[in-house]
Amino acid sequence: MITVPVKLAARSYNVLIGRDVLNDALSQVPKLFPRQRTIIVTDKVVAALHLEVLTRTLDKIGIKAQSIIIEPGEASKSFKCLEKLVDTFLDHNIERNEVVIALGGGVIGDLVGFAASITKRGVDFIQIPTTLLSQVDSSVGGKTGINTRHGKNFVGCFHQPRLVVADQALLDTLPKRERAAGYAEIIKAALIGDATMFERLETYESSALTEPHLSQAIAEAVAFKAKIVADDEREHGVRALLNLGHTFAHAFEAEAPKDIIRHGEAVAAGLAMAFQYSVHLGVCPNLDSQRVAAHLNAVGLPDGPLSLAHKTWNTQALVSRMRDDKKNQNGQITLVLARGIGSAYIHHATDETDLVNFMESML
Ligand SMILES: NC(=O)c1ccc[n+]([C@@H]2O[C@H](COP(=O)([O-])OP(=O)(O)OC[C@H]3O[C@@H](n4cnc5c(N)ncnc54)[C@H](O)[C@@H]3O)[C@@H](O)[C@H]2O)c1
Repeated sequence: MITVPVKLAARSYNVLIGRDVLNDALSQVPKLFPRQRTIIVTDKVVAALHLEVLTRTLDKIGIKAQSIIIEPGEASKSFKCLEKLVDTFLDHNIERNEVVIALGGGVIGDLVGFAASITKRGVDFIQIPTTLLSQVDSSVGGKTGINTRHGKNFVGCFHQPRLVVADQALLDTLPKRERAAGYAEIIKAALIGDATMFERLETYESSALTEPHLSQAIAEAVAFKAKIVADDEREHGVRALLNLGHTFAHAFEAEAPKDIIRHGEAVAAGLAMAFQYSVHLGVCPNLDSQRVAAHLNAVGLPDGPLSLAHKTWNTQALVSRMRDDKKNQNGQITLVLARGIGSAYIHHATDETDLVNFMESML
């Protein structure tokens, strides 16, 4: 089992990574369960596959678990679901020193983390991520939240988990498409700040998604994110780099019909766009952008908006979505772009006319 610490003073915690590590990981932390009980929140799909194993594992170490099962999918990151969850925690008479467990992908982690943060002004939670995306990215760093009609993740807060257990055995049931989508966030980590890691991923081609390469890449991506989060927990500076490609990605997700494209697929297309726009601005070598597109292709990820499952895009509508991005300042679009592979930077005050022209040329 690999331990990656997230160093945040009193809010520090470990990410425990490995295959079949659930039992060992949870036995290490009995103090997290002062009343020998917990509530597991998961979605219907994950419940059918993994809830029983987790409940049994907890039972073996003397912890009784209740469960709350919600609908899978992005639509569950809503005020309605949040209210239901908080109410159910309160129905169980949860105390502030207790932990709840988020068992699932990024949707469950974001929703449960937020519900935990506002219940009785904050109860603790453990992340047990079950998608590749959530193991490498969303379970680490404490960003929690829900979507509103104004945009994705527009309501939320920072609430760090007490522990993250990323057990690769849970990924065995993950559909191929979800696995590839999660891998986009691993590529993202390398593209932001680790050119050597990207070179290694490139040489593995499609086997990057299989063992032993995958576990190694998960640990590397988590360590990369943990360092950035430790340096800038609240995203006042360097943490914004983790949004490489995301302003484009969120626009694609918002403009596509519901549930047609996966978040990681949008991120993949967004990464390709960020590199192409960087080339367009003359700050990044074209060869680097071509290498990014080639690796996305090699692992079966979209290398631009036209290779997403939805293909009919309206430039003005996309740019209007980009105008709503949380990173923007003084009404101007902020993008995370790249000077090359492993060298992301924050680009303020984007020239909108130029961006629109660029987007037109790509669509
Ligand atoms: N908090 C953050 O820092 C952060 C970072 C990145 C993304 N996110 C959020 O994460 C969400 C996307 O997360 P996701 O891609 O994990 O999606 P998801 O949680 O919707 O999971 C994808 C699908 O896979 C199913 N699933 C989950 N685990 C499975 C397993 N082991 N076997 C079979 N099926 C399984 C789920 O039921 C769901 O249908 C988005 O809402 C995004 O905004 C948050």
